[in-house]
Amino acid sequence: MEEAEENHIGLEVTNSSRHESKSHRMGLHLLIKMINKSRWKILGLLAIFFVMVWYTVSREESFAFHFQNDKMTCPLGDVERKAAQLIANYTRDHPLFLQLKDYFWVKTPSIYELPYGTKGTEEILLRVLAITSYSLPESLQRLKCRRCAVVGNGHRLRNSSMGQTINKYDIVIRLNNAPVHGYEKDVGSKTTMRLFYPESAHFNPKTENDPNTLLVLVAFKPMDFQWVETILHDKKRLRKGFWKQPPLIWDAKPEQVRILNPYFMEITAAKLLHLPVKQLGRLKQKPTTGLVAITLALHFCDVVHIAGFGYPDSANKKQTIHYYEQITVKSMASSGHNVSQEALAIKKMLELGLIKNLTYF
Ligand SMILES: *[C@@H]1O[C@H](CO)[C@@H](O)[C@H](O)[C@H]1NC(C)=O
Ligand SMILES: *[C@@H]1O[C@H](CO)[C@@H](O)[C@H](O)[C@H]1NC(C)=O
Ligand SMILES: *[C@@H]1O[C@H](CO)[C@@H](O)[C@H](O)[C@H]1NC(C)=O
Ligand SMILES: *[C@@H]1O[C@H](CO)[C@@H](O)[C@H](O)[C@H]1NC(C)=O
Repeated sequence: MEEAEENHIGLEVTNSSRHESKSHRMGLHLLIKMINKSRWKILGLLAIFFVMVWYTVSREESFAFHFQNDKMTCPLGDVERKAAQLIANYTRDHPLFLQLKDYFWVKTPSIYELPYGTKGTEEILLRVLAITSYSLPESLQRLKCRRCAVVGNGHRLRNSSMGQTINKYDIVIRLNNAPVHGYEKDVGSKTTMRLFYPESAHFNPKTENDPNTLLVLVAFKPMDFQWVETILHDKKRLRKGFWKQPPLIWDAKPEQVRILNPYFMEITAAKLLHLPVKQLGRLKQKPTTGLVAITLALHFCDVVHIAGFGYPDSANKKQTIHYYEQITVKSMASSGHNVSQEALAIKKMLELGLIKNLTYF
């Protein structure tokens, strides 16, 4: 039965190709006739035709460019579908960054305090949002496909030669004070967004970011908003209330600065780490900036790939955890993060095909 069907198809193909060659011959004849008549018109039309073909092909190429022998296409809707399986009530409706109007015109009260909400910090936020920005830049809004690479700070990036690969993504998200300068071969040089908090801010944001990098503050406490205000307004610096001295001078343009919507911190804690929502504010454990960055990407990217995530075996206490500094696994013990819980959450996303790893996780 199957064979017969194949034969049938084969017959049809030969038939149609014969038909085609006949019509080709006729077309050619007609074409020669027409060329003799109005040569220049035809040449003009042909030129327009070739320009159109070239335009289409070149667009196709930029849309599905080659990627590590693998075509990186745009599976629109894929992330949404898979994220909805993992995150209850998943929605892309929440703005990525806090907006002035939410604290100025419409007062939307938050049920949680920082880092899961903004309850009690509305006044300082109003002042901070008045000097910073909250829009997604035109260059990002314009993208047909948002292919994102979330680059962790993991030791595995050392000598990984991943730089070129990472630079090919439409959006590259980096974390904290992770340097780029001098590490381009392994971690790339493009930085679309950098998530940080005052204690993790790089002292020299200009050398480690692009001129238009969005510097996205992940606020853990009210002092973090105060830091932004004093540093951008050049007010008297506050030194108390931080667990590590944040930069006193920070050369960034206010237009680059955004305040991450705490919604993503809440989702990370409640839906990915399954921490008890009712006690969120009082919990000692907080998600890492890295996991929050993945959550953020899941809410606005069409492709989410991660690199440099994962910690070395806790048995090897001397193993450094970052690609750029000598901090060991031991130091994570008192960090207030549950790294094994986070590893489980990331494994689940990998298994689901929601995210992909570029370096071994
Ligand atoms: C999902 O949304 C519904 C309706 O708002 C709510 O009742 C429910 O608790 C939510 N589920 C989770 C897991 O957040
Ligand atoms: C990286 O490569 C350099 C030079 O090949 C080598 O000396 C160094 O030990 C490598 N570092 C790691 C962490 O593998
Ligand atoms: C961290 O997460 C693991 C795995 O879910 C859990 O067994 C452990 O109790 C957690 N540790 C702390 C300190 O809460
Ligand atoms: C991602 O990690 C898995 C193991 O978790 C590994 O098998 C795979 O090779 C890694 N992918 C890449 C591209 O390194």
